[in-house]
Amino acid sequence: MESRSSSAKPNLIERDRQSIWHPFTQAGMYQEPLLVRAAKGTKLILDDGRDLIDGISSWWCNIHGHGHPALVEAASRQFSTLDHVLFAGCTHEPAITLAEGILAALPKGFSKVFFSDNGSTAVEAAIKLAVQYWSNQGERRNKIIALTDSYHGDTFGAMAAGARGIFSAPFDTMLFEVERVSTQGNADDIRRFEQLCAEKRVAAFIFEPSVQGAGGMIMYDNAVLDQYREICRKHEVLAIADEVMTGFGRTGPLFASSTLTIPPDIICLSKALTSGSLPLALTVCSERVAEAFVSPDHSRTFFHGHTYTANPIACAVANASLALTLSDECSGARMKIEAAHRRCAERLQSHSAIENTRVRGTILAFDVRAGDQTGYISTISRTAGAYFRARGVLLRPLGNVVYFMPPYCVTDSELNQAHTLLEEFVAQVTRQGISSLG
Ligand SMILES: Cc1ncc(COP(=O)(O)O)c(C=O)c1O
Repeated sequence: MESRSSSAKPNLIERDRQSIWHPFTQAGMYQEPLLVRAAKGTKLILDDGRDLIDGISSWWCNIHGHGHPALVEAASRQFSTLDHVLFAGCTHEPAITLAEGILAALPKGFSKVFFSDNGSTAVEAAIKLAVQYWSNQGERRNKIIALTDSYHGDTFGAMAAGARGIFSAPFDTMLFEVERVSTQGNADDIRRFEQLCAEKRVAAFIFEPSVQGAGGMIMYDNAVLDQYREICRKHEVLAIADEVMTGFGRTGPLFASSTLTIPPDIICLSKALTSGSLPLALTVCSERVAEAFVSPDHSRTFFHGHTYTANPIACAVANASLALTLSDECSGARMKIEAAHRRCAERLQSHSAIENTRVRGTILAFDVRAGDQTGYISTISRTAGAYFRARGVLLRPLGNVVYFMPPYCVTDSELNQAHTLLEEFVAQVTRQGISSLG
């Protein structure tokens, strides 16, 4: 393996540098990417023979571990039967089974599943559905309300709904206007929310329930959503739960919005839907939404679709993944992770270099005290990320927010290794400052 890796690595890394544009990556601040040769369970196996614990579940989506035999089996069986077919005018068993399975797993009240292939497209479809829902009824409602610090993806509609900042600045003049309220839900927020909804120009309120991921693993109480949701109900404003990150048990319950007193009208799912192995997304609607599109009038059709909509292989994998997610073993594993996170969080709290240590479900997060070095481009992200990588755990802090979010199949010893490393990191930063990490 040694000789293979030493000859392959420079070649591949150089070829990568010559031809590939990586996401969220500034080529002018080049950092050699990890060359990943294989992955199994919680481990990413690098070309140089080292392995790393996938501490952020490959961008929050891998819940059952890499190369899970049930998912591999489902994909290969489906590939040899029906690989892909257009989804307008055709259908297939894997998609039908998945739609039925998801509707059964969601809180009552959802009735139709619209397929796409990533989190941003799930959100785009949700926003378009909400606006057209009103248009189909002869009402012009095109305002969206969103939460401060939200993230809903990188396509134009999703970007408009998300918090504005360095990601969106070049496009600001092209993004539709969005009203924002906070997750604190103070009296001013509630008053403004009520006022906006009463104007009858708001199509929908979109939110990430329970945890705002990219905003910095902000954990908040869903009770505030109940307040907003009640106002939505009163003024018939549609509620869109973006569960692209929180879905499938990540925050504790199967769906983070399942604790809302009134369920949302639309829910967006992706990421863990296939346990992060194939691109797939769902925008699931209540009967009220779906009904508004049923008409002999063609102009009321939802004219939206993507080439890989409901790809059969991805659907087959999602069915296998859903069965694993619904098992007692999986909920036991999630509870075990949460309990271990809580014990670790208690130990971390005594260190003065960090603050806001928090746990929700299988997510453990804390903020490195950073003065004005906060925000996505804080150098802490790079320094801390390199520290953890060198010691066997792949983490990708969001600015000064360090978080650990492993696949549910993480073993006790891997959990212990990562928690111990987090404690060592925090102890060193407290003793010697972040600059001591190199
Ligand atoms: C809540 C939320 N919505 C939407 C998205 C966009 O998903 P994708 O990256 O698959 O487009 C993300 C991605 O992190 C997300 O966290």
